[in-house]
Amino acid sequence: MKVEPVYLVDTHAHLDDERFGADRDEVVERAARSGVKMIVNVGCDIPSSEAAIAFSRCYKGVYAVTGIHPHDAANAPHDAMDRLRDLAEDEAVVAIGEIGLDYHYELSPRDVQRELFIRQLDLARELGLPVVIHDREAHGDVMDILRAHASGPRGAGGVLHCFSGSLEMARECIKMGFYISFGGPLTFSNARRLRELATALPPDKILVETDCPYLAPVPHRGERNEPAFVRFTAEKLAEIRGVPLEEIAELTTTNARLVFPRLSLRRPGPSSGSNG
Ligand code: NI
Repeated sequence: MKVEPVYLVDTHAHLDDERFGADRDEVVERAARSGVKMIVNVGCDIPSSEAAIAFSRCYKGVYAVTGIHPHDAANAPHDAMDRLRDLAEDEAVVAIGEIGLDYHYELSPRDVQRELFIRQLDLARELGLPVVIHDREAHGDVMDILRAHASGPRGAGGVLHCFSGSLEMARECIKMGFYISFGGPLTFSNARRLRELATALPPDKILVETDCPYLAPVPHRGERNEPAFVRFTAEKLAEIRGVPLEEIAELTTTNARLVFPRLSLRRPGPSSGSNG
């Protein structure tokens, strides 16, 4: 059966992962062929943030998010903020991320995670950039910190990626200017709470993502995830909300452009005639 492409944005990918080392070109090409015209590639530390910017020069439609993940908080260089500030000058950088708190794996001490999270939120505010938030089993502290450092007129909002909180939390985040992003787990058979959330949220505040190479949606659950698979999550979202896939595609693409204003900027790409 031939699958008609719809225009989608994968708002959260990790193309620098070693699992893409052998076939990254084909992965990006496959995404474009299946309608995923934009990929927001998210860094987790300084080297992967630099890689994200490098990919945006190699591949049309690939944008960068630069920041330090809570897992890597303890290993952040002492001049991390200066380096992130320099990186964010590149026009391919659409947000600061992924930043936040992870109390599940707790690979860095919680107080170190919190301090780096706050400093990066403050940096994003200073730069007028949105943020991409990682929150795993840390809802209370994430909300306290967002209320203090990301709300108000100067907060540029952002994305709660692979959201796992309650509807109440989602609503408060939306009030602070955030969008709620759904990944592969929405397609898992045990995702009743996520599906309820996906039904209840306002249509102009939802996004889709892969978080590839992690969290592949059904029917690829357990395999390496890739941007082309964002379609399965979009199809599930359409099914849950009882609307055509085309409508979800248009909606989430518009939302992605709104939360990441730099996605809409024209910039030199590899196929626009500029070399280098
Ligand atoms: Ni991620």
